[in-house]
Order: sequence, then structure tokens, then C-alpha cells
Amino acid sequence: MMIDVQNLTKRFAGRTAVDGISFQVQPGEIVGFLGPNGAGKSTTMRMLTGYLPPTSGAACIGGHDVFHDSLKARREIGFMPENVPLYEDMRVAEYLTFRAALKGVKIREVRSSVERAMEYCGLGEVRKKMIGTLSKGFRQRVGLADALVHRPRLLILDEPTNGLDPNQIRQVRSLIAQLAGEHTILLSTHILSEVEMSCRRVIIINKGTIRADDTPEALAENLQSSGTVTVELQAGPEEVSEQIQGMGAVRRLASSDVGEGWHRYELRVEPGEEIRVELAELAAARHWRLRELTLHRATLEDVFVELTQRE
Ligand SMILES: Nc1ncnc2c1ncn2[C@@H]1O[C@H](COP(=O)(O)OP(=O)(O)OP(=O)(O)O)[C@@H](O)[C@H]1O
Ligand SMILES: [Mg+2]
Repeated sequence: MMIDVQNLTKRFAGRTAVDGISFQVQPGEIVGFLGPNGAGKSTTMRMLTGYLPPTSGAACIGGHDVFHDSLKARREIGFMPENVPLYEDMRVAEYLTFRAALKGVKIREVRSSVERAMEYCGLGEVRKKMIGTLSKGFRQRVGLADALVHRPRLLILDEPTNGLDPNQIRQVRSLIAQLAGEHTILLSTHILSEVEMSCRRVIIINKGTIRADDTPEALAENLQSSGTVTVELQAGPEEVSEQIQGMGAVRRLASSDVGEGWHRYELRVEPGEEIRVELAELAAARHWRLRELTLHRATLEDVFVELTQRE
């Protein structure tokens, strides 16, 4: 087991930031760690990486207790914190060399480790630049290179694409995909499309507790609001609603007049129900003209909103 978290809790004066969470991550998994602002993501990650002692509960990384065996646990982890602390007046290669030594990379391996991390993160062209003069995107890359430089088995990345432009986000995403083969990754982000693309598993946390832990697909499928069918018919709402009432799976019908006798209908159906064929047949039987028939599946964003907004 790469990560084993049992009943982890963190209380700050007067508020519980993380409230007895438990989860496990197997080697090789890429896990998206999602939640709204203040949910407890960074607090959890800081406890996992040994930067913050928990109030109660335990966390093991690669079998090493993060608090009682913190040196061994930390060696397994590459952590990219929310606000990457960088030395502004050091040059990129120099900084990474310093970090590699600090993290216990053997002297004769420091050079090759630094080269490898810089190559991974596309830092070759800025290797001699002062960190303080780099753009936000390049600073993020330095932060990621720092997390990688001692070749940890586990990467814990707290919003690695925060503040990046869409091109840079793509670059970081493909970098993560590249890293996925060799590493276990726990990644927090607010960019849900990123998680849908990169992660086979999602943990959603809200107010310090875990609300969901599954594949993005399974989460979307189980969502109550899953499955809205849009249909455009040349038929009036009264006739249509009368006919559709008879279809058991439809829970709600909304219509809007889109002109020239056409109406656009939104049908809420029970999760997992397939009513499109039935609708097409109904339209044919009633001689309604039909020009659109679409099933909208819930997205990870829908799941996120439902699990973290409804109280
Ligand atoms: N050092 C601290 N002292 C007091 N309260 C804290 C401290 N660090 C975090 N908190 C509180 O704990 C809660 C969880 O914060 P945390 O930073 O873990 O959230 P997050 O999920 O990372 O949010 P974001 O998406 O904004 O980064 C918040 O209410 C925050 O104010
Ligand atoms: Mg955070």
C-alpha cells in the first residue's frame, strides 16, 4: 500500500479542518483529490507529507508512519505544496542541486537526478536563470522538478496547475501523464476536466469529510441528476406532456418555444434509464417532426456541485 490513512483528524483553534478521514491508495494509482475552498485538501496533504502533525489518527506512506518514521516516509514522497517556496535569488539548476542534496540524493547521483528532473519539466532553457525572474508557469515547473528530483515513488501535488494559462495547463497535464507510469500520484485541483482526463479515481472531500471515492464515470452515473434528455419536436407542450406523462422513467418535463411551431423539451429521467428509442418511436407514431434527441450524461462538475453544495 502506498498511502494508508486511518481516521486522520486536524483541529485548529475552534475549527475541525479534517474530520476523521480514511482512505488507501495502491502503488501506481493516480488519484484526484477534490473539494471546494476550505474543504481540507491542503491540510490533509500537509499531514501526509509530515509538515503538519495531526490531532489524531494515522498516516503511513509506503508502510512508514509519517510521524513516527518521518524520515523514511518523506523519502518516498515528492511534495509540491500550494505555494511553492522557492529561493528567488538562486538559479534553477543551482536550486535543484541544493534541493537534491538536502533530500539525501547521493552526491554522485545529484547531477544526473537534477538533469533528469529539469528535462522532465522542460527547464533546460531556463536552467541558468534566477528563479525570481521566471514567469509563474516556469516557477510551477521548478516546484514540480523539486518534487521529482529525489525520484520519489509518490507524488503529492497540491494544485500544480493553479494560476497557469490553458497552454501551460496542457503541458503540466501531459507531464503528469508521463509521470503516471512510474509514480503513484495524489493530485488536488479545481480543474475538473483535468481530473476526468488524468485520474482513474477521485476522492471528493467537503468540510473535512470524504463524500465520495470512486471512478469519475461511476460517480457521474450514480448521480441523482444524471440523465437529462433534450428533444426538439414540432409539437405543442400540452400534447407532448400528455403523451410523455405515460412514460414511467420521466420525472420532470420543461419546455420552451423555439419558434415556427418547434418546442425544445428537457426531460429528467431516472438514472440509468434509456428513453430515447421510446421517444423517437412516440414521435413517429404521433407524426411529430423531430430534429434533436440527446442524452446528457452528468459530468464530474455536476457530481462535485451536488456533493459539495447541497447540505
Ligand atoms: N494553520 C491554520 N490555522 C487555522 N486554520 C487553518 C490553518 N490551515 C488551514 N486552516 C483552516 O482549515 C480549513 C481547511 O483548509 P485547507 O487549506 O486544507 O483547505 P483546501 O481544501 O486546501 O482549500 P483551497 O481549495 O482553498 O486550497 C479552512 O477552514 C482553513 O481556514
Ligand atoms: Mg488548498
